[in-house]
Amino acid sequence: MGDKRDELLFTLYPYFNAVIDSAEGCTLTASDGRQYLDLASGQLSVLLGHSHPRIVAAAQRQAARVVHLGNRFFGTATLEAVDEIVSVCPAGMNRVILCSTGTEANEMAIRIARAATGKIELVGLSKGYYGCSHLTLSLSDYVGFIKGTGVRSTGVHRLPAPDCLHCSLGLKHPDCGLRCLALGAENLEKESTGSIAAFLAEPVLGSGGIIIPPEGYLKGVAALCKRYGALLIADEAQTGLCRTGRWWGMDHCGVVPDILVASKGLGNGYPVAAVITRADIEQKCINAPLANMSSHSFDPFGAAIAAEVVRTLKDENIAERSREMGAYMLERLEGLAARHRLLANARGCGLMLGLDVVGREGKPDAMTSLALEAECLMRGLVVGYSAMSGVLRILPPAVITREQVEHAVGVLDEATTFLEENDVDVSRYMPEHNGSALLAVSFLRRLMKK
Ligand SMILES: Cc1ncc(COP(=O)(O)O)c(C=O)c1O
Repeated sequence: MGDKRDELLFTLYPYFNAVIDSAEGCTLTASDGRQYLDLASGQLSVLLGHSHPRIVAAAQRQAARVVHLGNRFFGTATLEAVDEIVSVCPAGMNRVILCSTGTEANEMAIRIARAATGKIELVGLSKGYYGCSHLTLSLSDYVGFIKGTGVRSTGVHRLPAPDCLHCSLGLKHPDCGLRCLALGAENLEKESTGSIAAFLAEPVLGSGGIIIPPEGYLKGVAALCKRYGALLIADEAQTGLCRTGRWWGMDHCGVVPDILVASKGLGNGYPVAAVITRADIEQKCINAPLANMSSHSFDPFGAAIAAEVVRTLKDENIAERSREMGAYMLERLEGLAARHRLLANARGCGLMLGLDVVGREGKPDAMTSLALEAECLMRGLVVGYSAMSGVLRILPPAVITREQVEHAVGVLDEATTFLEENDVDVSRYMPEHNGSALLAVSFLRRLMKK
């Protein structure tokens, strides 16, 4: 990289040795001219592709009009955004708060649930990920992984992840009768005080390793919500807005949540998020102590982007595109898994795809998935991986072409063969010039220990 200014960056991740100058569609261009094919949509956000002309134009127009207003006035762009968002939500979901990130939106959803129910405890899914604030991290299994971030919040519980591909009970769906959920419910009954405000669920668990819940699981979670008088919060950061081939991930299981949280894709890379709920829930919050304010709630700039994203998703029929390209990619990943001993269990829901990366013990392995991700990066291909589960995560922009899929499959093939034929040392993946290389080393060590 040759640019010493990177020493000023305090990073906890092993960033790659490239500085990106610009991006278009699925392609990132580095300052040295090298190009990367982005199958991770940035951080799983850029579903319409980088620098989509309509989103660029909407941002430019709004930047010249008004960016930020604070909490005295709404902007016209804000009214347009909430109208567009509600137009694609399930009937009755017509109260919207706009904010910035997925973490902030989940915190907001939790505050709404607590205010509306007068209850306090929370339930997440093990292997779920809800953000990086103290409370949202507490709901996730990531907290054990990121030791040192503090203690878990109290009154927070987890149900077992519906991970049928790696069932910890050794059972098979549907014969299992969703035993994992029944066991989780029994534990919850023992552990909790019963004062549960909300259950949080991703319709497909993304960071936990592309875990697609079996039929009946999310309906079962919704039934538990009813039993406890709790609200169901669907965290649609990764699954929302056509990524899975439907408007919302929850559409696949026929469950309408009480609160729907959209982030990532809503800004196509710009941080804007939405918390969407019903009027009766809003009503219950009116006299409750609900802190609903941040400097950037309802900012017209993010709103203008969100409104244009939703319009573009509709006009370009991205749900159908996700289904079509997702099916094509899944077939190609299945072919790879059949050829390689390091790869197994290709699965997908629209353009949200996963592939187990198998380590020496024959099980998905975080270190091996990290090595494969790094080998792909070195060959100009960006994929995601799950440090929780040892899974490659592939969530490309929907504008990806068949030629780009073929190119990506070729790179994955070559990188996997390389790892199968060579006993690599992880030092191969150390950032060259990054000032935070020491932190990257400790990250890798922690991962190896795990
Ligand atoms: C399902 C889910 N929820 C919440 C978040 C947190 O969103 P953000 O990073 O925008 O705060 C993420 C981020 O990866 C996510 O995948």
